[in-house]
Amino acid sequence: MSKVALITGITGQDGAYLAEYLLKKGYIVHGIKRRSSLFNTERIDHLYQDPHTENRNFILHYGDLTDSMNLTRIIQETQPDELYNLGAMSHVMVSFDTAEYVANTDGVGTLRILEAVKLLGLTQKTRIYQASTSELYGMVQEVPQSEKTPFYPRSPYGVAKLYAFWITKNYREAHGMHASNGILFNHESPIRGETFVTRKITRAVARIALGMQDAVFLGNLSARRDWGHAKDYVRAMHLILQQDEPDDYVIATGVTTEIRKFAWKSFREIGINVEFSGEAEKETGKIRDIDEKNFIEKVGEEFLDDIKVRIKTNPDVVKVDPSYYRPSEVDLLIGYPTKANQKLGWKPEYDLTGLIKDMVNSDIKLMKRERYLKDGGWETLNYFE
Ligand code: NAP
Ligand code: GDD
Repeated sequence: MSKVALITGITGQDGAYLAEYLLKKGYIVHGIKRRSSLFNTERIDHLYQDPHTENRNFILHYGDLTDSMNLTRIIQETQPDELYNLGAMSHVMVSFDTAEYVANTDGVGTLRILEAVKLLGLTQKTRIYQASTSELYGMVQEVPQSEKTPFYPRSPYGVAKLYAFWITKNYREAHGMHASNGILFNHESPIRGETFVTRKITRAVARIALGMQDAVFLGNLSARRDWGHAKDYVRAMHLILQQDEPDDYVIATGVTTEIRKFAWKSFREIGINVEFSGEAEKETGKIRDIDEKNFIEKVGEEFLDDIKVRIKTNPDVVKVDPSYYRPSEVDLLIGYPTKANQKLGWKPEYDLTGLIKDMVNSDIKLMKRERYLKDGGWETLNYFE
């Protein structure tokens, strides 16, 4: 018989990859999505099945992590073998402005899930994966960070996730639940939200190459992150729930890179060589030269002349805007994933270069489509005309 999975945050980056991965493995996948005034299912539209489909194996439910009764009802109806709690307000900078909401959703939301499973008498049936995060390490107490490194969160998001981590561990120890934390370091993809730094950069690289944008404004260029590909990381989530015993695992690549270097590599992917100079707010990344063959292959010959003109007239493509600086920053993250490598047999397939290639090339395709629609006189809606 097919296993049943329930995923919160199904419309997000990880929810979409995980749903597709589990469906390929023969699971019946239920997902919780929030009601929104516009469609918010773009990432999972390719998985959608009409409600009249026979033997449907992909089913969406309206819900919210702030609504206990709704969560309890959905868990009761779906009786999941595996529950992946991926739903969260996941943007660190935004959490400084929405701290109470984040505590409720990312922190207490996890408690609601655990308590519902316990209340419904599903503790022996339902295995729970909690989306923990390297943000727990914050002001790092050790380099690299392992499962034994003490936590020191640096944002309302990190603090809410700290509660979620410990309440998951507590329900495991107090009630014998198969509840595990995946302490995942940053993971990205072509469907990463556009305001996270990697996607902001790869999208801007595409738009700059196509003449749709002059420059990208970033905050702290010196922060370092351990970036992997979301496709690799959802495999780890699944593996964690296949273990006989619940446990907590660091999932990371073990390599850390500055934001500045990520930007440099992203431009280089399409043949634009960028050179950084200046200090702090005055720092800029300028186009130094162009590898024309690479640019033509990745972007197209018709865009080459414009970008060549820019080297002389307006070479600055990366600029600093201090409004993106965080009230308290996490300067360095680098994971030590040996436990996951050894116990789960997990190894990432993508390295940073492969990740950047995937993201930049996908954004070139997407932005070309956007540019084409714009040039085609896409009608603007004027509601009061
Ligand atoms: P994401 O793209 O921002 O997706 C978050 C998902 O949570 C979306 O489906 C969102 O729905 C949903 N959500 C937000 N508020 C909710 C609420 N009140 N009730 C129910 N659902 C809600 O995040 P992601 O990158 O896929 O990350 C998945 C999880 O892993 C998150 O918990 C994140 O904190 C954690 N994490 C991520 C990373 C990373 O690098 N990506 C690393 C470590 C941990 P809408 O689509 O309606 O907004
Ligand atoms: N978002 C953003 N935008 N970040 C910028 C910018 C900018 O313009 N310029 C510099 N940065 C720096 C941030 O200050 C931070 O040090 C780093 O880039 C990464 O920022 P994000 O991409 O927003 O990710 P994050 O590391 O804060 O959080 C992500 O990873 C966590 C795991 O470590 C999110 O996915 C969290 O949900 C996740 O838990």
